[in-house]
This record gives sequence, C-alpha cells and structure tokens, in this order.
Amino acid sequence: MKILVINGPNLNLLGEREPTIYGDESLKAINDELYAVAQNLGHELSFFQSNSEGSIIDSIHAARLGYDGIVLNAGAYTHYSYAIHDAIAAIKIPVIEVHLSNISSRDEFRKKSVIAPACAGSIAGFGKYSYMLAIQALDYLFEEKK
Ligand code: DQA
Repeated sequence: MKILVINGPNLNLLGEREPTIYGDESLKAINDELYAVAQNLGHELSFFQSNSEGSIIDSIHAARLGYDGIVLNAGAYTHYSYAIHDAIAAIKIPVIEVHLSNISSRDEFRKKSVIAPACAGSIAGFGKYSYMLAIQALDYLFEEKK
C-alpha cells in the first residue's frame, strides 16, 4: 500500500528544536527509519513537510488520488486548523494523527486537537515511535479491508 507521511510546521527543525521535548533526531533520520519499518510491512512511503497550512491541505487533497493512507503530524495546526480538519473529512482514505510528545500532558492549548474527530485515530507521546505505531495501525486497517 502507498502511504504519505505529512509533517507540518517547525518539524523540519527536529533535532535542533527543543530536544528535551522532541528528541535529538532529525526529521530525515526519523523518516529513513520509518521508511525501513514500512518496507518490512510491504508498504511504500512518501514524505512531505511544509510550514504552511495551504500546502498541507493541498497535499492531503492530492493524496486522495494516489495513496491508501496518510500519517499526519500537523504540529501546532493540530490545535486550531479547522481547514485541515475539513480537508481530512473531505477525503476517504484513513488519516492517522501523530505527535511525538504527549499533547495531553503539556500546555492547556495543546490538549485539544481539532483534527482528531476527522482522523481514523491518534497516536501521541511515543517520540519517533509514534510514527512507527501509525504505520502499524494503517497496516492493520489495510489488512481488515482485504
Ligand atoms: C507536536 C505537538 C504540537 O503541540 C506542537 O505544536 C508541534 C509538535 C508533536 O509532535 O508533539 O509542533 O505535533
């Protein structure tokens, strides 16, 4: 199956950015590891990162045609982008929401995800393993559909 991994704002700075919260690995290092995990399960991954809301929405729209699922870390847009919520709701392929940190145990404004209701499920708090768990979750969903 084909899976698109979308990372939103500030996630291009992983490794440098608040490493005590987000870890010391770069996005590229995480993506490389994720690629191998997906390959072992027989899935093909593509990656997209953008700091702008419109580009994330465009990539969600585009993915509906060529992909079977999306793993999305929408960064801070998670907490206030109704437009990203609506983009997810507009497509039929499953979207798994991912966060490196446990958004429920941090600042008050992070506790609410406005995109969660439109997603197939959410995984947060496991660092880079949140992404791996999301690939595993999609794998289960694909198996179920067979
Ligand atoms: C994040 C959590 C968000 O609250 C934050 O704005 C991010 C990263 C995470 O992966 O833990 O940019 O999505």
